[in-house]
Parts: sequence; structure tokens; C-alpha cells
Amino acid sequence: MSGTKTIIDAQNGKTFEVPEEMLQSGSLIIIDSRNGKKYSVPVTNGTIRAMDFRQMKISDDDFGLMTYDPAFLNTASCRSAITFIDGDKGLLRYRGYPIEQLAEKSSFLEVAYLLIYGSLPTKTEFEEWSHNIVHHTMLHENTKKLMEGFNRDAHPMGMFISSVGALSSLYPDAKNIFDKDLRQLQIYRLLGKMPTIAAYCYRHRQGLPYVYPDNTLSYTGNFLSMMFKMTELKYKLNPVLEHALDVLFILHADHEQNCSANVMRSVGSSQADPFVSLAAASAALYGPLHGGANEQVLHMLNDIGSKENVAAYVKRVKEGEVRLMGFGHRVYKNYDPRAKYIKEIADKVFEVTGRSRLIDIALELERIALQEEYFITRKLYPNVDFYSGIIYQAMGFPTDAFTVLFAIARTAGWLAQWQELILDQEQKISRPRQMYVGEGKRDYIEVKKRE
Ligand code: SDX
Repeated sequence: MSGTKTIIDAQNGKTFEVPEEMLQSGSLIIIDSRNGKKYSVPVTNGTIRAMDFRQMKISDDDFGLMTYDPAFLNTASCRSAITFIDGDKGLLRYRGYPIEQLAEKSSFLEVAYLLIYGSLPTKTEFEEWSHNIVHHTMLHENTKKLMEGFNRDAHPMGMFISSVGALSSLYPDAKNIFDKDLRQLQIYRLLGKMPTIAAYCYRHRQGLPYVYPDNTLSYTGNFLSMMFKMTELKYKLNPVLEHALDVLFILHADHEQNCSANVMRSVGSSQADPFVSLAAASAALYGPLHGGANEQVLHMLNDIGSKENVAAYVKRVKEGEVRLMGFGHRVYKNYDPRAKYIKEIADKVFEVTGRSRLIDIALELERIALQEEYFITRKLYPNVDFYSGIIYQAMGFPTDAFTVLFAIARTAGWLAQWQELILDQEQKISRPRQMYVGEGKRDYIEVKKRE
């Protein structure tokens, strides 16, 4: 029989012997101290399968062990080849391409193709891709009637989420999610119509007539035209602002298994159509801890009011009274590479729009925060939302429209994540388990006997 190997207990430093045949390379040896049983659990890609714990029982009728991970701090829900993030190094790559290179050289529509299909398109592929999306920018006229039902001061995210979900009722063919051509058609429709919905939300609230898509313009240029065109025959784009917004869309396009991507996958896993799945993902993005943070950053900067008040605000943050919106990240424990790039875009935009006074408050906030122990020990750095809102405001977007802009861009990532889920043979309907901590069995009490 082969020998044993001395193993060191990581928690108390004690040593013990384990049979060598159990020490297969790339596995965990688990000893269940409740009954002395040993298990060998394979490690794959730095993960162990949660289902491997179900064999660990202490009696025949034992369900077996589960893993418990509130908010999924340490749980991989899928295999994905779309986006890679190294939070410690502050790296972000879409399908292997560094975000800095894509921001510098690509366009949002090309990045959307890359995220969804996994490779950069050839010239012909891109022309076909653009043609198809551009020819799906129009909205069914009924969508306008839906929007008319909203108050003038309705938050645009409420309108956006409702309108996206409503599109599901217009395209029943979207339910055929395993039909490749029909799935492709919904991808064209969703990418094509998001900017139109976003613009219509804005125009409704401004009391302005809707502007129909101008398919002679770029994807982002057409969005700006639908947002800001007035009585002129053709909207005159400022190329610096058009490009800046396109780069911002690239930077917001995907971010692996963030909260809203997880929702897109979870709703999609029930085989719901991509319209209602994307409406659900947009709802998740709306939260102030997620995509809603860019709007909250503007409110925070306005509340601070001036550079002189920054130190007092940071004190309130350190005392736990308020959060520094636009700071911190579940994955990045270094500077969010997107925030770095967005800061550079700000200077270019301000050359056109004039410098925003809020940028000086934001820069002072960052300067002070990055030298404070509270932020350093918690590895809190500016994230994608810290500077983006200042640019959006300078470009003329209302503060409560910022998350809608995030949703337009993230539609590409949500669709890529959704399609990857649909095609993943290992996936099935998402249905987590729970740790039940409620009452044991008890009998019904008539109301007259209740206290
Ligand atoms: C996005 O996941 C993604 O990839 C998201 C996103 C994407 O592209 O999809 O990157 C987009 O959502 C960016 C994040 C936008 N949200 C904000 O800017 C809101 C402010 N930030 C946070 O609330 C917070 O940092 C989160 C939500 C982003 C991350 O929260 P975690 O990982 O759950 O961390 P936590 O709340 O457990 O905080 C850890 C500690 C706590 O202190 P202690 O309890 O240990 O004393 O850090 C503190 C927190 O109080 N902390 C903050 C803080 N963020 C965390 N303290 C002050 N200000 C903050 N912003």
C-alpha cells in the first residue's frame, strides 16, 4: 500500500498523516470532524463544485452539506468568456481586449458585436451588423401612447423599464429563444431601440415632440439627435461630444457578473424572452448601489457645494453617516480602470462645454479620500460612476437620465451574458437553496385564542 503524507492544519498548525492516494493533484482533502470521514474534492479553475458537498452526511437521512454565501461574495454562478476583471490589478478586458485599447480605437457598436459574438467583426460583418441595428431603431407608435401615461416628472428609469418590458408584448416571436435567427432579430431590436426609448423618455418629460431616428448618423450620433434636435432640419453633432459619449458607452458596456447581469441571467434562465429579462436587468441597474450611483454622485457633489466643504463630508463618511457615492467596488480593490479613463474624457468634453465646477469638488474628494486610512484600509477607490455624471451633466443630460445612459450601453453586455447563458449546456433555471432559520412545525391557533 502506498505511504502517507504529513499534512499541516492551516488553522492550528498541527500535523497529521493522510494516505497519499487521497492527495491527487488539484483536489481538496476534507475531513468531516463530525464523523471522521475524509473526502477528496477536485479543484477546477480555482473553484470547487458546491454539489460536491452534498455527499458529506452524518446520517442516511441527512440532506448533506450546502454552501452559504449571502450576496454571492465568493460564488461563481457560471463559466463565462465575455469579460475578465482583475480587481487587485485594476484590469478590465472584453473578450481578452484591454478596455483602454477598445476605448482608444473601437466604437460602441463594434464593441457590442465583440461582446456578443466573441471576436472583432470584419468590415463586411460590421456593415451588416450596423445596417441591421440601424433598421430597428424605430419604435411601434403604441410605445408613445404608453409613455404619454407617465407624468411629466416621472423618473426616466421607470419609463425606460416599463417601455422595454412592453416591447415583449409587441414581439411574441422573442419567446423562441433557441431559434438562432429569431434570437439574432431580438438582439438587433433591443440594441436598435434602446436609444430611441431613452430619447423618447427625455422628450416626453421635456414636453417636446419625439424626434425620429436619423439613420444617416452613427449609433451615438443618432441618439444625440433624437435627444436634442429642435426645429433644425438636421441635428448638428459636435464630433468631440459624439465621440466622448461613444467611449463612455464602451466603458459601460459590460462588467462580468455584476448585479444586473446576474438578474439578466436569472430571469433568462426561466426561458423568459430577452425583452422582459432586460427590463428586469434595467430595474436592478436602477438601484443607488449599482447603476443609480452616477445620479447619486451628482446629488452628493451638489450637497457638498464647494471644495472647502469636502473635508467635512469625508468626516461624515468616516463616521458612517453617509456613503461616498461613486467610490468602492465589490471586485476592484484598486482604481477602476474605467474611472481613470472617464477622468481623461472629462477634460476633452470641458474644452467644448466649459469646465464644470463640480469636477473640482470631485477631484478634491478623491485627493482627500485616497490619503485617508478609512478608505485605504477598505480599498475604496473611485468607480465607473464617480466622474461619469459630471460629464453627462456638462453634455446637457438631466441628472436623473444618467442611469438610462448606463442602461443603453449595458444592453450590449446584458445581451452577451444572456446569449451565453442560453447556449451553456450546463445551465438550467436559477433556483438557489436557503438556510432555514424559521419556526419548527406548529399547529394553527384560532383567532379567539390568540393573544
Ligand atoms: C457599479 O459589480 C459591478 O461590476 C458594478 C459596476 C458595473 O459596471 O456593473 O461596476 C457598476 O455598480 C459601480 C458601483 C456603484 N455604487 C456606488 O458607487 C455606491 C457606493 N459604493 C458602495 O455602496 C459599495 O462600495 C459597493 C456597493 C459598490 C460595493 O459594496 P460591497 O462590496 O458590498 O462592500 P461593503 O458595502 O461590504 O463595504 C465594505 C466596507 C464597509 O465598511 P465596514 O462595514 O467594513 O466598516 O467599505 C465601506 C462599507 O461601509 N464602504 C464604503 C463605501 N463603499 C464601501 N464606505 C463609504 N463610502 C462608500 N462608497
